[in-house]
Amino acid sequence: MNTTTMKQTITDITATGKGILAADESSPTIKKRFDAINVESTEDNRRAYRELLFTTPGINDFVSGVILFEETLKQNSFKNIPFPKVLSDQGIVPGIKVDKGPIDLPNSPGDKVTQGLDGLGDRLEEYKKLGVRFAKWRAVLPITESNPRCNGTMLNAVFLARYASICQEHDIVPIVEPELLMDGTHTIERCLEASRKVFHRVIHELMHQKVILEYMILKPSMVISGKENPEQASVTKVAEATLQILRETIPAAVPTINFLSGGQTDELATAHLNAMNASDTAKPWNLSFSYGRALQAPALKTWRGKPENVADAQEELNKRARLNS
Ligand code: 13P
Repeated sequence: MNTTTMKQTITDITATGKGILAADESSPTIKKRFDAINVESTEDNRRAYRELLFTTPGINDFVSGVILFEETLKQNSFKNIPFPKVLSDQGIVPGIKVDKGPIDLPNSPGDKVTQGLDGLGDRLEEYKKLGVRFAKWRAVLPITESNPRCNGTMLNAVFLARYASICQEHDIVPIVEPELLMDGTHTIERCLEASRKVFHRVIHELMHQKVILEYMILKPSMVISGKENPEQASVTKVAEATLQILRETIPAAVPTINFLSGGQTDELATAHLNAMNASDTAKPWNLSFSYGRALQAPALKTWRGKPENVADAQEELNKRARLNS
């Protein structure tokens, strides 16, 4: 294990005012995003869209890392430059989604578990040769009265920790992503209670498997009301509830917390992050973003698959990244 390499990766990613762009939508997910703008999800359209994102003028002022999907990692820009190099030439660290998505967890109705541990070490060695310096694994935890159940909470935490430990063995900084879903009618109090249980268990398993907390990135969901709950908690309440749970459960040794947006509107995701950073509550970690939809939504809508819209779409991405910065 080379801790100097991972230390440098953390330093580069936590550059002041910068965050992570999650552009690692799997093939079914990017198809969903393209369907919404009437663009066919062909390999070339996906390549063109990712090129738009990565060549946005000034993006490296606000983005320090980009999470890629495996297909994109192996694609080249129009000028035939591999995408990881397009990023690293701008001082942006290339990362990769390594999980293979969630499936239903048997005997634990409503819970999910993420696949992809088999052969992970070999894959990381291959990705490293292509310039990858960090990775991401997303655990999906739906919230209901009875979910996440004990089994789902425990197993997702064990798998996240196992993944993180394999990453560090290969000098790759792991993004540990426990996502409690916004779907549903639950209250912010229910989300707070579930988040406390999940984050506590994740840290417990990380420590149990001797993951070095100093060389990881936590990517949690915020503590927020369910999307279908007519009573939505205020920006201040979301910020304070999220900080409360993070302070209760996440050791100061974790250098950076980069939130996912999880289906929040782009404006709200920005407002919540801003309120947390502006809060008087003591925060021992760097607090930033690792947004997918909340950074890309306006750019995607402006692009609509048309080359003549690329410059305007890039302006939209630059604007969202700047506002989050
Ligand atoms: P969203 O910000 O759209 O939730 O995506 C972040 C991500 O990487 C989900 O795994």
